[in-house]
Amino acid sequence: QLPTIPPFKTKVVEPVYFRTREERKKKIREQHFNLFNIHSDWVIVDLMTDSGTGAMSEQQWSEIMLGDESYAGSESYFKLIRAVKDIMGFEYVAPTHQGRAAENILFSATVREGDVVPGNAHFDTTKGHIEFRKARAMDCTIKEAYDTGLYHPFKGNIDLEKLESVIKEYGKDRIPFINITVTCNTVGGQPVSLQNIRETSALAKKYGIPVYMDIARYAENAYFIKNREAAYKDWSIRDIIREMFKDADVVWMSSKKDGLVNIGGFIALNDPDLYERLGQFTIVYEGFLTYGGMSGRAMGALAVGLYEGVDFHYLQDRVHQVQYLGQKLKDYGIPIQEPVGGHALYIDAKKMLPHIPQTQYPAQLLAVEAYIEGGVRGVEIGTLLADRDPETGKDRLAEMELLRLALPRRVYSRSHMDYVAATMARVAARKEELKTGFRITKQAQILRHFTVELERI
Ligand code: F0G
Repeated sequence: QLPTIPPFKTKVVEPVYFRTREERKKKIREQHFNLFNIHSDWVIVDLMTDSGTGAMSEQQWSEIMLGDESYAGSESYFKLIRAVKDIMGFEYVAPTHQGRAAENILFSATVREGDVVPGNAHFDTTKGHIEFRKARAMDCTIKEAYDTGLYHPFKGNIDLEKLESVIKEYGKDRIPFINITVTCNTVGGQPVSLQNIRETSALAKKYGIPVYMDIARYAENAYFIKNREAAYKDWSIRDIIREMFKDADVVWMSSKKDGLVNIGGFIALNDPDLYERLGQFTIVYEGFLTYGGMSGRAMGALAVGLYEGVDFHYLQDRVHQVQYLGQKLKDYGIPIQEPVGGHALYIDAKKMLPHIPQTQYPAQLLAVEAYIEGGVRGVEIGTLLADRDPETGKDRLAEMELLRLALPRRVYSRSHMDYVAATMARVAARKEELKTGFRITKQAQILRHFTVELERI
């Protein structure tokens, strides 16, 4: 069999600038060891996020020219509605400027003080928007997800017993919805099986609780279902997606991921009453109902991106690239979350730097060293991101200390992956020299990791 290759070729290129290791070492110290403070032209391979960093196709760029910028009733909005309905099966679509804006609107209408929102591991903005409303996000992910060395095909699955005990403890009235994130970013871009989605929905129905889905990476989730869940191996990606959403009351999407656009998001649903309630918040926070924070051209590009994002050949190449980097890292003996997820590699800093206590942010130390070593920018998914307990104000030691290397879509080649793996191998080779981590010198009230300032201990 011939190797799989990307179903596209390059038409436009962006330059990458090279600096020396010494220059980067000085720069990151000046920037208080926070990689969010680094100017992008000081980065060689930027794996900070797969969100909004992908390359658009010529068809998407054509839609940019066709964008209808009418305040109300834009044709680009109707293109988006038609695409969402066709691919996902929802009637009503509320565009927003990105995923967290969708969370803001949706939770403004549904989450009250004292509520509890169980689900698989919530993304940090999701959790932030829940906690901001003095409600609690309850992580009911299966425990296998937190053992990085253990193989499980669907580490994003919800533990149904845990979920039921939360429902019994707090009762239906305090649970506005159950949240399923596909794929589950927080535990490593890990998929949720169709069986688990179905069983979660059945449990929700038994107690009369709606099911919402955070679908930023739904197409990658569908690809894993096709590959790992025997019953669906002959199903098309499009049919699997319909099946995934069959019992969902509401979905929301950061379209900066599987929507293959640089900005945008939406809420989609079939309930006209809830749609009407959301509309009031859309108008206050985002914009009129037919653009909600997006330009006409951005909605047009998204309508096309949604179709390209569910193409089997695209998805196969995408996931293979992530797996290729994962295999390289493993060959170098670097411990990663296994199996490799859909959009990123997660290096296990607890295993790689066991001598650095969690209170010194070992995953951030790895992130900083990868930057210094090769100009590779990843992001800490550990105790810095987990932030403090809203009640005690103390650090919540994260279950896992991970360095995430997220791959932008349709951007990097295999040689970039070789470069990244070699960079990490060099960091691993001098891990004994890394004796201590960081302490915080400055932090924000919530979502601290974006602006935190650190110093070496
Ligand atoms: N839900 C999930 C699962 C996400 O991964 C993100 C963003 C959001 C919601 C929020 O969407 O950024 O458009 O406001 N994840 C990015 C990341 C930031 O790097 O993983 P947003």
